Amino acid sequence: MASAIIGGLIRKGLCKPEELACTCGDDDTGPELAKKTGIGFSRDLATLLPGADIMVLACKPQQFSALDEKLTALTAGKLVLSILAGTTLERLGAKFPQCRNLVRAMPNTPGQIGAGATAFASQAPLTDADRQAVEGILGALGLTVALPESQLDAVTALSGSGPAYVFEFTKAMEEAGVTLGLDRATAAVLAKQTVLGSALLMDASPEDPETLRKHVTSPGGTTQAALESFAGNNLRGIVTEALTAAQKRSVELSQL
Ligand SMILES: NC(=O)c1ccc[n+]([C@@H]2O[C@H](COP(=O)([O-])OP(=O)(O)OC[C@H]3O[C@@H](n4cnc5c(N)ncnc54)[C@H](OP(=O)(O)O)[C@@H]3O)[C@@H](O)[C@H]2O)c1
Repeated sequence: MASAIIGGLIRKGLCKPEELACTCGDDDTGPELAKKTGIGFSRDLATLLPGADIMVLACKPQQFSALDEKLTALTAGKLVLSILAGTTLERLGAKFPQCRNLVRAMPNTPGQIGAGATAFASQAPLTDADRQAVEGILGALGLTVALPESQLDAVTALSGSGPAYVFEFTKAMEEAGVTLGLDRATAAVLAKQTVLGSALLMDASPEDPETLRKHVTSPGGTTQAALESFAGNNLRGIVTEALTAAQKRSVELSQL
């Protein structure tokens, strides 16, 4: 995700490589990223942080508690932007008590190709300059939405986990195609292209998904037969139940 942010910032011309620098854990991912993009790299936080105005935290949530204690002092006066799933502003605030403001963001996997959806919440209201910086950094991953932190568990359930629902639905269409007599390769390519094409159509069209759905549903036709089957099995209720389970799990995980 850090690579995606850096790649997007440079590609969009929002930052020059020399304005960015990274660190990493015990392996060579940081030096490799620096070599590929032209950004700076140091394992020494005392070298890396003083020249920075904003620190983006993009390690795994389980690596958070092992972060170098020097960061507490080194982030004084800086804006800290975390993309760690489930790590609350309260926990972040305990680690970075002297920063000027804290932002907790929830991105999703399409962010890796700049097509993500990221919601973010800040500890204190953002100044115009900090909001612009946060939207620029997270914008490198795709669309951004500012929300109160209390809504981030719902965001996790919708857009955070959402790509998995779409992949699962695509696989279900592939399986159904095989059941109906198509060979596996044909069913897989048709299912994938249908999801991709429909997503692109939603993006290109000013109409909402429900209206687009109505456009392909002739009364008494094949699509209506399938949609009536979905409705009979309460598809929308099933989706709401699934997102409710994801939201509940998100609340549990952020309290661990
Ligand atoms: N992937 C997604 O689509 C997605 C979606 C939503 C949220 N997120 C959040 O985004 C974060 C990153 O996910 P990811 O998939 O990009 O994980 P990742 O590939 O494992 O990247 C984590 C990075 O953190 C570095 N790191 C680990 N410990 C460190 C330390 N003590 N100091 C500095 N750097 C350290 C790692 O360096 P080494 O390689 O050297 O260990 C690695 O480069 C996670 O917190 C995740 O919850 C990701």
